[in-house]
Amino acid sequence: MVKTNLPKFPDSYIGKKAVEYDSLRWMERNQKRTTQKILNFLDDKKLGKINHNFEKDLPLYILDLGCGTGFSSEILINAGFRVIGVDILEDMLSKANNKKTKLKSHNLELILADISHLPFKTISFHYIVSISAYNFITHYYNSQREKVKIVNNTAKYLYKILKDNGRIIIEFYPENVEDLELFTNSFILNGFEGFIVKTNPKQKSGQTFLLLKK
Ligand SMILES: C[S@@+](CC[C@H](N)C(=O)[O-])C[C@H]1O[C@@H](n2cnc3c(N)ncnc32)[C@H](O)[C@@H]1O
Repeated sequence: MVKTNLPKFPDSYIGKKAVEYDSLRWMERNQKRTTQKILNFLDDKKLGKINHNFEKDLPLYILDLGCGTGFSSEILINAGFRVIGVDILEDMLSKANNKKTKLKSHNLELILADISHLPFKTISFHYIVSISAYNFITHYYNSQREKVKIVNNTAKYLYKILKDNGRIIIEFYPENVEDLELFTNSFILNGFEGFIVKTNPKQKSGQTFLLLKK
């Protein structure tokens, strides 16, 4: 696997680092470009038929897991979604909140929460996405047993809050092949169908996407 200079959680996102993150134009460009790719993956034909029943449901609800300062959420709003952005850090969410005010958007709701302990009660979402954040859910766990438990419980919960035929697209940075397998299996074992897409696998710019359907 190619080594990249990836941000370290939480060092890269607290206090001044959150301010710096939000001011980085290349970061904004990357996050927005990746979100565009995710939008294209939402109706990837290899995932099977689109649920046309969703057309009756407008607006479509999309959950942005680890929304950070809202670069990804902004693209999702512009694509017409009602966006629920979740992040574990207040410093990052406060920047996202500034964007919400600037955009005067009623289509963004921000929630302070951990991806692995989400506060939703009902089947609410047509789509769930996560851009450069999902790999962090195992950050505070050392043993493999704990990691397996947290990724499994999270996948099970996401299955519960996603509407039938809904889709999850995750762009993330697993540390190695075993880590990628850990995340992928957690979804497949909990009822999702799907596959992995890798872009430029041998380059620093390479990305890993998980495309999943309930
Ligand atoms: C690369 S940044 C944000 C990317 C975001 N897509 C954007 O457009 O700014 C990753 C984010 O994941 C958040 N994060 C890390 N672990 C998390 C967790 N367990 N639950 C929720 N958010 C988490 C971090 O606080 C950080 O804001």
